[in-house]
Amino acid sequence: MKPQRKGGLYRSRLGKGLDEDALRYLSSLRDDEEILVDDIEGTEAHVIMLAEQGIIPEQDAEKILRVLEELRGKALKAELALEGEFEDVHEFIESFVIEKLGIEVGGKLHTGRSRNDQVALDLRLSSRRYLIEIWRAAIELAEALLSKAREVGDAIILHYTHLQPAQIGYLAQYLLAHFFHLLRDIERIESCYHRVNVSPLGACAIAGSTLPLNRRRVAELLGFDGIVENSVDAVSSRDFALEALSAAAILMVNLSRIAEDLIIWSSSEFGYAELPDDLTSPSSVMPHKKNPCILELLRAKAGKVIGLLTAALTMMKGIPTGYDRDLQEGKPVLWNALQETRDSTRILAKAIKAVEFKRDRMFDKAAETYAPAIELAESLIKYSGLSLREAHMLVGAFVKELHESGKLLKDADLGSLERLAESILGKELKFPETVFKKIIEARGVADLRTTEGSSKYSEVQRQLELGQERLEEVRRRLEKAMKNLSNSRRKFEESLSKFLS
Ligand code: ARG
Repeated sequence: MKPQRKGGLYRSRLGKGLDEDALRYLSSLRDDEEILVDDIEGTEAHVIMLAEQGIIPEQDAEKILRVLEELRGKALKAELALEGEFEDVHEFIESFVIEKLGIEVGGKLHTGRSRNDQVALDLRLSSRRYLIEIWRAAIELAEALLSKAREVGDAIILHYTHLQPAQIGYLAQYLLAHFFHLLRDIERIESCYHRVNVSPLGACAIAGSTLPLNRRRVAELLGFDGIVENSVDAVSSRDFALEALSAAAILMVNLSRIAEDLIIWSSSEFGYAELPDDLTSPSSVMPHKKNPCILELLRAKAGKVIGLLTAALTMMKGIPTGYDRDLQEGKPVLWNALQETRDSTRILAKAIKAVEFKRDRMFDKAAETYAPAIELAESLIKYSGLSLREAHMLVGAFVKELHESGKLLKDADLGSLERLAESILGKELKFPETVFKKIIEARGVADLRTTEGSSKYSEVQRQLELGQERLEEVRRRLEKAMKNLSNSRRKFEESLSKFLS
């Protein structure tokens, strides 16, 4: 028997074929390219289980699996065009099998399954794949940040607040800040991965099946850590996808801020950083241009991913419990966001590896500022017994005076500070000249700090070691997740070949 087209496979209760415009409007076939292989493999695991449970005869399973394998081979080589008048990939595949084997045999493939648990499965399989890719790309970026931090050694930089000079410190501290930031992104991806990696299959349409399905066997074959316990939850919920999207959006926001710093630092006004020629773009008309376009695009894509998260959340919020067709519209939203996140993470890793920091320029810029004012104030507390407020008043007035007379802090003298203390606080200042010299000199001020985690050379070294350990831990956990997947993939292929031999 040839299955009728126009959504004919499922239309037993409906008198007419689907209207052409309605089909075009509702079909997800084109988007489903993304889950073509997932859908075939999910179906294969389901059919293996059906035969193992004696729900369908082994020889029928074998025939179905052969056709599915033919499909999978073609799909993997991108030789399978997803076209025709089908509502989605699920109908496409089932129709193909029925067309080959007839309805008596091919018609057994979907036994005990609904497109509702099937599409939830495909979405989990595809999310899992993207999460692994993002996880890996983020580790690569973390590694790039860490090696760059090591490479720049004791390069001095201004740390900014309000994009105004704040405190002098080490460039490595800046890079490590983003490294630790990224580690949290990685942990968010990782923990989301484990919530994604459970199988919804066997929930059927919503309430389960009267057939003796073995849900855990399917889960095992497909490399899931377990099953979604509740059948209603299994087909209704997409929080796993929203969570993946949220983790992606948070990651993108973090990456966008690094990109923004590098864009600012690449300007000739700052001149702190330069990307190599092969990562920059020219202008069609201004021959001198060297634009950091990849970083600008990353910044835009972060906005896009936030928009996609908003779209997905908004689509979900009014859907009644159960499968509703609205959920279909969320699939490309999720995939698009995860693709952009993966690609942005990869490109930023490349940019961080390649960026050149201009240490002399960064130092000169730092030395031109009054940034050590806070360390001067703290020293007045330590050495001269002033209260913070007194010290703040005195140093503020000192900086004002220097600024008005066009002098830099490094050219200041202790005598004028002492005179100011007399006139402003009515106090005779006792302050060691050697400390004063050290503070006003950009090179030495950072290492006067004593606090844990501060921008101080010895602390930066400690963080580098800690960072290395933490990076190895997350890498080990990624490898473990990937190993679990490849082990179960091997078992899956073995079970498959048992049927086909
Ligand atoms: N194409 C649908 C989707 O992507 C598959 C599930 C359809 N289920 C249904 N009961 N109509 O969500």
